[in-house]
Amino acid sequence: MPPVLQFTHRNQVPDTAVKHGKRTKICDLLNETAVGKKVTVKGWVRTFRNNQFIALNDGSALQNIQAVVDFENTDESLLKRITTGACISLTGELIESKGKGQKVEIVVEDLEILGDADAEKYPLQPKRHSLEFLREIAHLRVRTNTFSTIYRIRHAMIFAVHKFFTEKGFYNIHTPVITGSDAEGAGEMFRVTTLDPINPPKTEEGEVDYREDFFGKETNLTVSGQLEVETACMALSEVYTFGPTFRAENSNTSRHLAEFWMIEPEMAFYDINDTMDLAEEFLKYLVNYALDHCHADLQFLDRRAADEEKNKPQHERSELSLLERLRFVLENDFVRITYTEAIDILRNSKPNKKKKFQYLIDAWGADLQSEHERYLVEKHFKKPVILYNYPKDIKAFYMRRNEDDRTVAAMDVLFPGIGEIIGGSQREERYDLLKQRIDELRIPEKDLWWYLELRKFGTAPHSGFGLGFERMMQFVTGMGNIRDVIPFPRTPDNAEF
Ligand code: 4AD
Ligand code: MG
Repeated sequence: MPPVLQFTHRNQVPDTAVKHGKRTKICDLLNETAVGKKVTVKGWVRTFRNNQFIALNDGSALQNIQAVVDFENTDESLLKRITTGACISLTGELIESKGKGQKVEIVVEDLEILGDADAEKYPLQPKRHSLEFLREIAHLRVRTNTFSTIYRIRHAMIFAVHKFFTEKGFYNIHTPVITGSDAEGAGEMFRVTTLDPINPPKTEEGEVDYREDFFGKETNLTVSGQLEVETACMALSEVYTFGPTFRAENSNTSRHLAEFWMIEPEMAFYDINDTMDLAEEFLKYLVNYALDHCHADLQFLDRRAADEEKNKPQHERSELSLLERLRFVLENDFVRITYTEAIDILRNSKPNKKKKFQYLIDAWGADLQSEHERYLVEKHFKKPVILYNYPKDIKAFYMRRNEDDRTVAAMDVLFPGIGEIIGGSQREERYDLLKQRIDELRIPEKDLWWYLELRKFGTAPHSGFGLGFERMMQFVTGMGNIRDVIPFPRTPDNAEF
């Protein structure tokens, strides 16, 4: 006869904390074969079927553990409180499971409700919710399989980034979040100020007097840690920064966030070719790490992506499954072509001739849009592509001028389904040329005097790049919208939570 279930509540029985103290993680139980062993697990109820079978999840694995309740001997008021979303602690004996995909299940001997979840009000039900709906409850969406999977993979990718660079002898540098300079020169910055917005102090000319502001000058949230990490590069040789970056660009797309995380390595003595090699090796390392360490989670996302594909029109369906796409990137060399070659391909492409591109390519010098990048990757080459040597006028001031005088040693890595995933360059290490470019673009020298000084004192050839972490997460998880690979997305008109 199964043991009689007792119900205890933290407030009523003070010793339950002791009784339930030692907890086994569900991930450890899934491989457990020690039938007869007594365990305590804690987690959130996913489903409770037939007043008998609890599927419990604690986030340590995608899979739930099944626990069996003896409902005949259990108080009905307790059974009612075992609802989807409730947090419970239970103790019981492991028995061999007859269910598929699990070796053991738990026969419940003691159960404690740690937190009720009002079944009428709890918004997550055991069915598929739309991603749009889940974004509105971003504080709860991590309790779904899709999002707990994404959060776990996100962690694995963060770890893999540090592992890759540590193994290569790079040093991790924390660069500031608040800065006085605009690294990308695109003027897309969020201002940081403590001035009274209604009545700010004014200069004699009637402008806001930022000398009175907290830092005694204008400051903003950083768009990139590159300029500051270059200072460390000029002493430690190989460094990287991995931090949040902020861009006030008003792009409501599936690949743009106003707050995103960027990994920016910076390497002394690397030229643009060395940098392309490193970028390719790095991306492959991350993909390989995910395949090696996130097996169950990726399989789940692979099935999920396959389901989504079924709802798409035939011509939009991807030829490869998620897992195939990941392996494909590992197994193939990235194509490397110059911007000039790319323009030739695009100019003669079908969508350009048939005026299918939103932005038609007619002349050298045009900035590439994501439709062009994706054409090159998905239609023309069907491989990741690295474009290099861009016109200097469409790239940032710090990029190294090439001998032709009209291009710079820039490189972008373009990925299927994503477009630009990495942007980087060799840096202009020659003082005179950098100063000239800063003047041409009318960038105030007072913001960059220290950056220029790096070229005065022991300058060195050096290069670096930035990987948008959420774009990488989109590629690895197959999620179509960047808002679904970061816990709390920041986009125009949206800073809830
Ligand atoms: O090409 P970007 O602007 O390059 C830089 O910021 C350089 N300072 C990097 C460097 O050389 N150290 O941005 C780099 C990458 C892009 O390729 C893209 O993946 C990502 O950052 N990115 C964004 N990701 C999400 N939302 C946005 N609004 C993004 N803007 C750029
Ligand atoms: Mg870029």
